[in-house]
Amino acid sequence: MAMMVSSRSSSWAALALLLFVSVAHTVAGADELSAGYYAKTCPNVESVVWSVMASRVGGGRMAPAVVRLFFHDCFVNGCDASVLLDATPFSESEKDVEPNTSLTGFTVIDEIKSVLERDCPATVSCADVIAIASRDAVTLLGGPTWNVPLGRKDSRLAARREFTRAHLPSPNDNLTELIRMFGELGLDARDMTALSGAHTVGMANCMHYRGRVYGTSNTKYNIDPSFAESRRQLCPPQGPIGDAGKAPFDVMTPMKFDNAYYRDLIAHQGLLNSDQALYGGGGVDNLVEMYGTDGDAFGRDFVKAMVKMGNIPPPKGMPMEVRLQCSKAN
Ligand code: HEM
Ligand SMILES: *[C@@H]1O[C@H](CO)[C@@H](O)[C@H](O)[C@H]1NC(C)=O
Ligand SMILES: *[C@@H]1O[C@H](CO)[C@@H](O)[C@H](O)[C@H]1NC(C)=O
Repeated sequence: MAMMVSSRSSSWAALALLLFVSVAHTVAGADELSAGYYAKTCPNVESVVWSVMASRVGGGRMAPAVVRLFFHDCFVNGCDASVLLDATPFSESEKDVEPNTSLTGFTVIDEIKSVLERDCPATVSCADVIAIASRDAVTLLGGPTWNVPLGRKDSRLAARREFTRAHLPSPNDNLTELIRMFGELGLDARDMTALSGAHTVGMANCMHYRGRVYGTSNTKYNIDPSFAESRRQLCPPQGPIGDAGKAPFDVMTPMKFDNAYYRDLIAHQGLLNSDQALYGGGGVDNLVEMYGTDGDAFGRDFVKAMVKMGNIPPPKGMPMEVRLQCSKAN
């Protein structure tokens, strides 16, 4: 680190400050991630994550939730595990922005972290745990596997509510808006189209697809009438109880990580407006058709885009650390 100092005393002050900062925590910079980051300090990290994921989650309901957690983490201030922080008297929690039933998967991340704290204390960041666990979730659901670049740190601060809201795409966003929001993070339209394929697994609450299946939202995309009818059955027109009526994203293989999502879109059976936005006259129809027929091409592009999303850094100057417990700063 280069530093200009003009006198002896200021150089001591600078050194003291530097030591203080590096002992207390580091500050986000442009550190390169690498797959072998824990090779010496925690060689078993990947097998620990895998074994907890395999035994606790398998291909079950929690697996899609973990994948979604990674997406939310990376989209708000970079992949820094800020999504896991509980609210404190001094800071809001990113979790509270989502309807409370909506983001889950925290418990399995906490469990993995506590096992890791026994094996290699104060070494593996919560942000890396989310990154590895979401890869494992995809694999456990029958999707591809890949090497996850590691070496992320955890931020000490969660984002404010308005910031979180502004940086997460909405289920009623149109294609232009989706391309813009992903683009702000360095993810292009192809990355966006491939990453959206994660909606080949998991479910959404009624409040998120009601506008689409009743045709009441501002964005309107073609919807297969019998699909709309079947989803209205799960989602009453109004009311808080109906808000929780869950529907699977993928009609054919709802818990298998495959390319069926794209065939749903071609059949106008995308669950969210933001799903159907990808097909039907917009600029990524050709990609949707290609992924829908070529599952391997989808897998390759999805992996590439997950690695790219996983590289989104926290803002410069954000105080960072390896958290001991994922729900609170040390
Ligand atoms: C393109 C913009 C996106 C929008 C607007 C969006 C929106 C949503 C919404 C509204 C839900 C349902 C939440 C609920 O009701 O519980 C959901 C679920 C999900 N999202 Fe996305 N999402 C987007 C992109 C992504 C990306 C990039 C990923 C991962 C790579 C992802 C992974 C998931 C998964 C796996 C679920 C299912 C969660 C579960 O079953 O618990 N999404 N998303
Ligand atoms: C969600 O929040 C509402 C209102 O704060 C509460 O009544 C409800 O029990 C919560 N649901 C869950 C599953 O925590
Ligand atoms: C897409 O959404 C944005 C933001 O809501 C809006 O300004 C824009 O007009 C929409 N574009 C189209 C083509 O509907």
